[in-house]
Amino acid sequence: MNNKTDNPTKINLVKEILAWKKKREAVILAHVYQPGEIQDIADFTGDSLFLSQQAAKTQAKVIVFCGVQFMAETAAILSPKKNILLPEIKAGCPLADMAPYEKVKNKIKELPEVVVVSYVNSSANVKSLSDYCCTSANAVQIAQAIPAERDILFIPDKNLANFTAKRSKRKIIPWQGFCPVHNVLTKEGVIKVKKLHPQALLLVHPECRPEVCNMADYIGSTREIIEFASNNQAKEYIIGTEIGIFHPLRKNNPGKQFFPASENMICQDMKLITLEKVLYSLQSLKPRITVSEDIRKKSLNALNRMIEIT
Ligand code: 13P
Ligand code: SF4
Repeated sequence: MNNKTDNPTKINLVKEILAWKKKREAVILAHVYQPGEIQDIADFTGDSLFLSQQAAKTQAKVIVFCGVQFMAETAAILSPKKNILLPEIKAGCPLADMAPYEKVKNKIKELPEVVVVSYVNSSANVKSLSDYCCTSANAVQIAQAIPAERDILFIPDKNLANFTAKRSKRKIIPWQGFCPVHNVLTKEGVIKVKKLHPQALLLVHPECRPEVCNMADYIGSTREIIEFASNNQAKEYIIGTEIGIFHPLRKNNPGKQFFPASENMICQDMKLITLEKVLYSLQSLKPRITVSEDIRKKSLNALNRMIEIT
């Protein structure tokens, strides 16, 4: 945190959070789509895969998950004895909501022969119906690990399904969901931004439309995009994912320039978490995310298969 520019209220708030974090023996995990000030107070920041690995690994009794419901639920599935807190209970994921449990169950009944792969951006209930979970960082690896003769039903993101099918060369039946934040980015929009920054490399998330992915110099999860930009020699980048990622990109790469592929790629749910809510969570140990034991055991199988492969 920059003490010269941050106001005293915020400095005090951060101090209180850190004191309560110590008292609760807690860790704070923050997704890179979180507001910058939340990322700055976190013990770990990263993509869904990295954060779920940290949640499984940590010895801390309390995990404050600064992200959205499916991320906190994943942590609760992996670490049932820990106290998993989501500072804003209403922080959901519209993509995950596009695959309701009953509809998924009916689809699986229609297609009993398929292997069901669910993106972690799905509810715990949907994970419990799945054979494997995956994240945007390992979807291709998971698809390739499934016996070649089996078709895959991929839930819920059709764009990630398309990307995975192309890279893994596997037959994938996509669920017709999409992330409203990434789907906003169009080919025409990218062409316009590319004209403004002709030297820039285009880095996009695989939740983007196929025609946008086809134009990209690199396609990866949020963490992979950050790693790519940090290790690459180019000085300019156009970024096709949620704007929260600009915080670590600019912080880690002061000599480079990053431009949004669209100004509209904002996940409102991710922005519901505030410093005040993080403090309240630590003080009250609420809102706590739990998953019923039956659903947890079934969804843990799918998550464990993913973790074993990656
Ligand atoms: P990552 O797994 O790349 O962090 O993406 C999560 C997400 O919600 C993308 O919209
Ligand atoms: Fe869900 Fe999209 Fe927000 Fe990611 S960016 S949490 S997929 S709505």
